[in-house]
Amino acid sequence: MRRYLRVVVLCLACGFCSLLYAFSQLAVSLEEGAGGGGGKPQAAAASWLAGGGRGAGRGAGSAGPAAHPGRSDRCKDFCLCYWNPYWMLPSDVCGMNCFWEAAFRYSLKMQPVERVHLAVVACGERLEETLTMLKSALIFSIKPLQFHIFAEDQLHDSFKGILNSWSFLQTFNYSLYPITFPSENAAEWKKLFKPCASQRLFLPLILKEVDSLLYVDTDILFLRPVDDIWSLLKKFNSTQIAAMAPEHEEPRIGWYNRFARHPYYGKTGVNSGVMLMNMTRMRRKYFKNDMTTVRLRWGDILMPLLKKYKLNITWGDQDLLNIIFFHNPESLFVFPCQWNYRPDHCIYGSNCQEAEEEGIFILHGNRGVYHDDKQPAFRAIYEALRNSKKKTTVCSSHYYSPLSHSCPSMLFIHSEM
Ligand SMILES: *[C@@H]1O[C@H](CO)[C@@H](O)[C@H](O)[C@H]1NC(C)=O
Ligand SMILES: *[C@@H]1O[C@H](CO)[C@@H](O)[C@H](O)[C@H]1NC(C)=O
Ligand SMILES: *[C@@H]1O[C@H](CO)[C@@H](O)[C@H](O)[C@H]1NC(C)=O
Ligand SMILES: *[C@@H]1O[C@H](CO)[C@@H](O)[C@H](O)[C@H]1NC(C)=O
Repeated sequence: MRRYLRVVVLCLACGFCSLLYAFSQLAVSLEEGAGGGGGKPQAAAASWLAGGGRGAGRGAGSAGPAAHPGRSDRCKDFCLCYWNPYWMLPSDVCGMNCFWEAAFRYSLKMQPVERVHLAVVACGERLEETLTMLKSALIFSIKPLQFHIFAEDQLHDSFKGILNSWSFLQTFNYSLYPITFPSENAAEWKKLFKPCASQRLFLPLILKEVDSLLYVDTDILFLRPVDDIWSLLKKFNSTQIAAMAPEHEEPRIGWYNRFARHPYYGKTGVNSGVMLMNMTRMRRKYFKNDMTTVRLRWGDILMPLLKKYKLNITWGDQDLLNIIFFHNPESLFVFPCQWNYRPDHCIYGSNCQEAEEEGIFILHGNRGVYHDDKQPAFRAIYEALRNSKKKTTVCSSHYYSPLSHSCPSMLFIHSEM
């Protein structure tokens, strides 16, 4: 009886091994078949050091050896995620074997990866702040990001320089635009609006091919993946087109309910510093309004609205958004304050219940608190992210994972918080 048992165990072991071998051979042939034409990024190497400048050199430098696995000096500087059919790393390779990842990758290859679109408007002295915001998005995010950066012309070269030095990350893509108005009656817009303050209102009209967009102010910091707020788009019901957080939790210190001379959304208004938009729906919708009895489209409502309320608005485009959603409340998805956490939530005692329970998801350092000493905690988080180092990985096409757009197990994040 005992001998019988041993034979069974032996057979099982042999069976398992041959299965493993067959599987690995299959995976190799799939790999080779897919290797050539895919056009997938060939190597991902990341190394952010404070300031971003040095990162460029290292990223470019380490991309070389990855293309020629076999050099013995590669272990010194970076780690490698290596594919080997026998599930063992060759002696000269340090790092992680990607056996399962490669198999998994094949099964997912057919699904196109959705990009998260993130827009920001940067004017004046906001370069460093904007880059820190983008960095916080890159550090935590899972899906690839597409940045839409609207900036004054004199900032373009600086943005290009730094973002190109990060491009070895291969988890993002960016487009840089001048401050722009819709081509129809651009001149009239320019006369009426302060260009930088109102740019975001025109995003649905300028980015015509983009379905959905997350707009954020430059003084935003992501403390968790952008994917998380992006997933709220799927929670919109059929009438909702945009999502924002309330301007205040506590009406006694609210601004709109005490001072506004125009209509506003809900009890205390909404804050537009973090605004999630399904722009397809915004472009399609006809909006109720208090100017005519007919409903107007997004492109037609802004100008008459501004003309009517020009003398009564204080916070520019945010006020216009409040007026629009006052008349169309069914179109707004209101997310809790932890997605747009501002000093107002803790200045006069803590009044963001959700953040107390679940934490802060997106930090909004308005009133300049990243740069003065009024709110040391806000400033500390800003500086930690600004100085954060991200050190990574080399991944040739064989080791590249579409799951995470890199070798996930090899991504090291060192942020000094
Ligand atoms: C970056 O965006 C362009 C279009 O703007 C696209 O063709 C290209 O494939 C993108 N790159 C990556 C790595 O996704
Ligand atoms: C602007 O504010 C004034 C003073 O509060 C008010 O009388 C007027 O009706 C407001 N204008 C509009 C268009 O609401
Ligand atoms: C935005 O709305 C359009 C039209 O309803 C829909 O087809 C699309 O899937 C929505 N986008 C997202 C990201 O949910
Ligand atoms: C969608 O949600 C909003 C806000 O909760 C609500 O006012 C609206 O009636 C809902 N629309 C539908 C079709 O249920």
